[in-house]
Amino acid sequence: MLKRSAGITLALALAAGATSAAAQSKPFVDISAADQVAAMGPGVNIIGYDPYWQDGDKGNYKEAHFKAIHEAGFKTIRVVLFTFKHMDQDGRLDPAWLKKLDWVVEMGKKYNLTVILDEHDFDACSKDAKACGANLRNVWSQLATRYADEPNSVIFELLNEPHDALNGAVWNEIFPQVLAVVRASNPTRNVIIGPTHWNSRNDLDDLKLPEADRHIIVTFHYYDPFRFTHQGASWAPPEITALRDIHFGTPAEIAEIGKDFDAVKAWSVTHDRPILLGEFGAYDRAAMADRVVWTNAVARAAEAHGFAFAYWQFSSDFIVYDFKKQQWVKPILNALIPNTTANKE
Ligand code: BGC
Repeated sequence: MLKRSAGITLALALAAGATSAAAQSKPFVDISAADQVAAMGPGVNIIGYDPYWQDGDKGNYKEAHFKAIHEAGFKTIRVVLFTFKHMDQDGRLDPAWLKKLDWVVEMGKKYNLTVILDEHDFDACSKDAKACGANLRNVWSQLATRYADEPNSVIFELLNEPHDALNGAVWNEIFPQVLAVVRASNPTRNVIIGPTHWNSRNDLDDLKLPEADRHIIVTFHYYDPFRFTHQGASWAPPEITALRDIHFGTPAEIAEIGKDFDAVKAWSVTHDRPILLGEFGAYDRAAMADRVVWTNAVARAAEAHGFAFAYWQFSSDFIVYDFKKQQWVKPILNALIPNTTANKE
């Protein structure tokens, strides 16, 4: 059964064919996971919930936005991808959707950004581990083959925030199979993998990474205190959705972030795995002044601990860029990159 599906995924990968058109500019050169993280610097999550992915010419993201991201001082984009809904019944990714993804990768390269291709079907995966595993192997056989000739600035994140059905031993069983699919075409490209419970730092000890594979960057997400960052968020548990006027900013609260990151750093040193803080942000319902304090504290703590970071997110909600006004949300941008030239006018 396993063999059969492996055969199908390979056939699909070959059929999806072709490396992306403009991949040839810079060849892939091996880079250590630590050097990759050092080069990633400040980053931002982009485009996942944008109409860009729908049929036709919709969407907010234009070349100017990638330029603005670069000029503001970001060095990384985490490209949030919902791939499962773009597969046909044979598991083949829609060629039109792939072309759209090619454009995003091209923009990232053009503006010197590390491009993380982040598979983000975490909710679908939380419901059915078996289907998730099969879908992920399918998707990654196609994406990994398509982008195998891209430079080392393009990296892969196997799955955002495994949780529920993907908890405990199940994730440790599934991700190595997905990683093996990637390794067939990308033996030394850096791959991002995170722990269970929505990439919780508390689950790092449960993550069983293959010792011999040193091209792995470990990720975690940080939204603590959750009652502050997610107050009023409709998708949070009801008691959090109901919250308002929760403030943040006492020295003790700020110190807590440092302690949490110390524990992640200790794990990182023990296991010799560099760290990406792949998501953090405080939802728009919190007071802007408090969001700024929190965002600045988390970003500075990440830097002080040697973690690369990617803010959640450029657009949609938690925004650092306002598409309606076509301008940065300056307090948030400044909290992320204090010396950004984008803020000087
Ligand atoms: C999810 C978003 C959510 C964010 C913060 C992300 O991983 O994709 O839908 O807004 O986490 O909760």
